Formats: sequence, structure tokens, C-alpha cells
Amino acid sequence: MIQSSKSNSHAKKIGLVTGGGDCPGLNAVIRSVVISAINLGWEVYGIERGFEGLLHRNRVHLLNTYDVRGIIHTGGTILGTTNRGNPFKLQVPADGGGGVVDISDKVVEQFHHLGLDSLVVIGGDGTLSIASDLARKGIPVIGVPKTIDNDLMATEMTFGFSTAVTTATEAIDKLHATAASHERVMIVEVMGRYAGWIALYSGVAGGADVILIPEIPYQLESIARKLHDRWRRKRNFAIIVAAEGAAPVGGQMIFKASEDGREPRLGGIAEQLAVDLNKLTGYETRSLVLGHLQRGGQPTPADRLLATRFGAAAVRAIECGKKNVMVAYQSSAITTVPLEEAISKRKQVPLDYDVIRSARDLGVSFGDE
Ligand code: F6P
Repeated sequence: MIQSSKSNSHAKKIGLVTGGGDCPGLNAVIRSVVISAINLGWEVYGIERGFEGLLHRNRVHLLNTYDVRGIIHTGGTILGTTNRGNPFKLQVPADGGGGVVDISDKVVEQFHHLGLDSLVVIGGDGTLSIASDLARKGIPVIGVPKTIDNDLMATEMTFGFSTAVTTATEAIDKLHATAASHERVMIVEVMGRYAGWIALYSGVAGGADVILIPEIPYQLESIARKLHDRWRRKRNFAIIVAAEGAAPVGGQMIFKASEDGREPRLGGIAEQLAVDLNKLTGYETRSLVLGHLQRGGQPTPADRLLATRFGAAAVRAIECGKKNVMVAYQSSAITTVPLEEAISKRKQVPLDYDVIRSARDLGVSFGDE
């Protein structure tokens, strides 16, 4: 048996998979896992396009240091990803009869057949809860939290969030000039699902006048008061940042039609607000949906750093004999938490959060006063 070059632990074979939506920093994690594992004398097998890739011999590749050269700064994932790859409920294409099948036993069998010791799963809550189900079926899993939404309770920060906030902030910066020139209300819709982190951070950093987040239901009249106040003070334009999950008091979030039985996607709040606010105030309004731009581009240095720390920590966790845990960022350090616990709670913006407080102190409206 090959001995590890740095420790006495036996050489290991790790599977590495990315699942769910892509996110800036995925490649930095992949690089970090591959290099730190190889430095221990281990092997890393990259699994392409989610868990199902395990079942296809041509989608599992031994990764070497050359494969991960020059990718720390790139967006996307060299392994590919999918958010339709739940092996417990795999969608069968319509021409194959449609419906869903459970191929999880095959995935577990193939994991063992390949002689893998551990599976590093880089994903958000959906992918990590699939990983947790696979762990229950006997696959030793190490989770790495990924999402631009920053909505996993067990970690104070997920990589991808910093880049998404940077992209959204740059967009808000650019919109100021056109909003001021035309004396318009510009409404920017940002991602984040059921949490308002991206809207709050980019809204405050971009100097928005109104920030709408799912955690604080808004009233149109309250937003209108803020707009009138700006016009009264001869600031004849306004920037509103709306999280895609924001909703009015007593109202519902806006969803797009769902595809193939998938979880419905949020979207449409900015357009709706533009119509409603124009009717209510008479001000000229325009809306913009930033969409998947927020998931693209080069990861910021902060995301590259966090991703690199997470990847190396995942390998260290395996070296220490850990399984079914997720690496997490807590109190400026990287730690591990039980996978079950990590996926059990969504992290929303606390209402007493000091960023909300500071924004209110500066006169930013959350549409609730
Ligand atoms: O979870 C990340 C995220 O980008 C959300 O902010 C957004 O609601 C969703 O994914 C969009 O998913 P899709 O890739 O299916 O369009």
C-alpha cells in the first residue's frame, strides 16, 4: 500500500464532485483539494456533472496537478455541475418515459467499486442534503459549503457570496449615473433565494436608497414615502435593490413557472415593483434583473481564500479520519460541523443585524416604516 508522503496515514482515494448551481470559487476548492491530497500521496478522482457522473466511467477522471493549474481565478467548475442530478429522484427524460427513478444504490455501489475512501461534495443545501442521504447509505462524505446566497446556518460565510456582492455592487454603481441623468427610479433585482444577504450587502455598499429583503416584508406606501422624500430634497432619482425573495406585507414571493417538477425559481419582483411604484408615485421607473451574472466571473480574493481554506480543510478532515461532516467558517477559523446539522437550518438575515441598523441610521428604507 502506498504510504502518504507527509503522514503515516494510508494513501487514500478521494472522489470529488460539484453539485447544484455553479458559484465563483468552485475551481479554487477543486485546486486546493487536489493539490493538498496529492501532497499527502493520495489520489483524487473528479466526478463530472454531479453524483450521477459516478455511474459513467468516462465521467470519472484521476486529477493531477496539471489539471488544476491556472484555475484559482476562474469562475464555474472544471467538473461541470447540474441541479437535476439527485440520484434519489433522478429525472427521466420524456423520450425515456419521463418520471423519476432512484439510482442511489447504484451510486453507492459504484463508489465502492471504484475503491474510493471518501467523497468530497461541494454544494449548497440541496446538494449537501443529497450527500447526507448518501452518507446514511454508507458513503463517507465531507461537505464543502458553496452558494452565492450565503444562506447556510452552520457557516458564517460561503464562498461565492463575496463575488456576487461585488458584481451586484458594481452594477448599482453604474446605475446611479443613468438614474440621476433621467430622474428615474431604478430597481435592481438580485439573487439570494429566501435570504436577503446579497441584497443587503450590495445595497449598503452601493449606496441604495431602498433595500427589500425576504426577512422584512415591505409596504409600497412606505417605499413611496422614501421616494417622495428624495424628490422633496431635490435628489430626483432613486436606487432600489430588491432581493428576488422579497415580498409585501401579507403578500407572496414571485415565482417563475416551474420546469420539469423542479423547485420553482424566484424572479419578477423588480418588474412588478416598477409597475406598482410608477402607478403609485408617477415617477418614471425601470427594472433590471442581474440574474446569473452574479454567479459568473472571477472569484474575488476573499472567495479564493475561503475556497482554498475549505478545500485544504476537507482533506485534513479526511486525514483525521472524519466523515459526514461539513467544513465551515466560524469565528475567523475553519472548523467542521456534522453534515446533518449543517443542512438543517437556513441562515436568514437577523432583524437586529448591525448592517440593517447601520443602513437605517443612514436613512435607507427597508420598506417597512
Ligand atoms: O442558489 C443559488 C441561486 O443562484 C439562487 O440565488 C437562485 O435563486 C437560483 O440559484 C437560480 O437557480 P438556477 O441556476 O436554476 O437558475
